Amino acid sequence: MRCVVYTGAGGNEVVTCEERPDPVVGDEEVLIHAAFAGLNGADVSQRKGQYPAPPGWPSDVPGLEVAGVIDAVGSKVRGWKIGDRAYGLVGGGGLADRVVVHERCIVHVPAQLDAREIAAIPEVFITAHDAVATQAGLRPGDTLLVHGASGGVGSAAVQIGVAMGARVLGVSRHEAGRAAVTSFGAEAVAADGWAEQVLALTGGRGADVILELVGSPNFADDIAVLARRGRIAIVGIGAGHKTELSLRDLMSKRGSIFGTTLRARPLEEKADAIQRFHHELGGHFTSGRLRPVIDRSFPWIEAASALAHMEGSGKVGKVLLDFAS
Ligand SMILES: NC(=O)c1ccc[n+]([C@@H]2O[C@H](COP(=O)([O-])OP(=O)(O)OC[C@H]3O[C@@H](n4cnc5c(N)ncnc54)[C@H](OP(=O)(O)O)[C@@H]3O)[C@@H](O)[C@H]2O)c1
Repeated sequence: MRCVVYTGAGGNEVVTCEERPDPVVGDEEVLIHAAFAGLNGADVSQRKGQYPAPPGWPSDVPGLEVAGVIDAVGSKVRGWKIGDRAYGLVGGGGLADRVVVHERCIVHVPAQLDAREIAAIPEVFITAHDAVATQAGLRPGDTLLVHGASGGVGSAAVQIGVAMGARVLGVSRHEAGRAAVTSFGAEAVAADGWAEQVLALTGGRGADVILELVGSPNFADDIAVLARRGRIAIVGIGAGHKTELSLRDLMSKRGSIFGTTLRARPLEEKADAIQRFHHELGGHFTSGRLRPVIDRSFPWIEAASALAHMEGSGKVGKVLLDFAS
């Protein structure tokens, strides 16, 4: 297989691109031949030594997701055959063109989406759906506020909120990001003075669900714009993870805060998140209500540049590695 390898912890000097023997499937696993691989913030954190792979996953090949065509199946696999197209989640090893994944952690791929498009789905859409719908209980008619709305998870969350019948407000620091939010059928909010804009747009009522993808700088105002019995989902903390919090304000709103991660979940919990997304919303890729959003693809041997781009500002949607060309 061709894969991205971290030779240690640090900056992009630890990133190499290697050829290694293909991984071997276990009894309940399949081997996926991937033409593209999705990058995530976690890959950057892992490179810095801040987010090691969970036990049982490759420690030096990063990557949280996989999409492609099944090349081999384990002896106890019942639901899949060679040649099926699938996407899903792994705990590591995803930045490669051959990836082993448990058969319950993948789902069938919408037929009309190509290899590049399916690679932009799993991690961001499943993370957004799990946080906003499964855990925060977003309902039709609710107001959903998404921070970092033009990034990978944010652009998925905005679309999911709209598809679920919520009113969605998406915060972005740049014009292209706000244009994307509007194109998804949501209302764009500029990052400067976002709290005042949210209160003005909602007549002072605020948001029922807030998806926090940026971190602690937003937190005091998240509580200020939380509607009664609102829920704040902490999913991304790239801009900071420590904050002061007024328990009185949270209590008077009868508000809830929860944090969540996908990567280190036990198999059954991870499989549940994937299958729920597929059953509840997967059909929207066929109807066109949901669409993968791709910022840019890099040849796989330019993984270091792709990671640098991932760390930068101004993206709209996913960054991919291209193993096909
Ligand atoms: N908990 C989990 O299971 C889980 C799963 C997936 C992702 N995540 C985390 O969730 C976050 C979002 O992931 P992603 O894949 O969507 O990343 P991404 O594509 O890089 O998007 C990040 C977004 O946050 C915005 N942003 C970053 N720093 C900001 C700041 N200081 N102030 C305002 N906006 C800022 C960016 O806007 P600009 O373009 O203006 O910079 C961008 O829209 C990351 O921290 C990631 O690690 C967590």
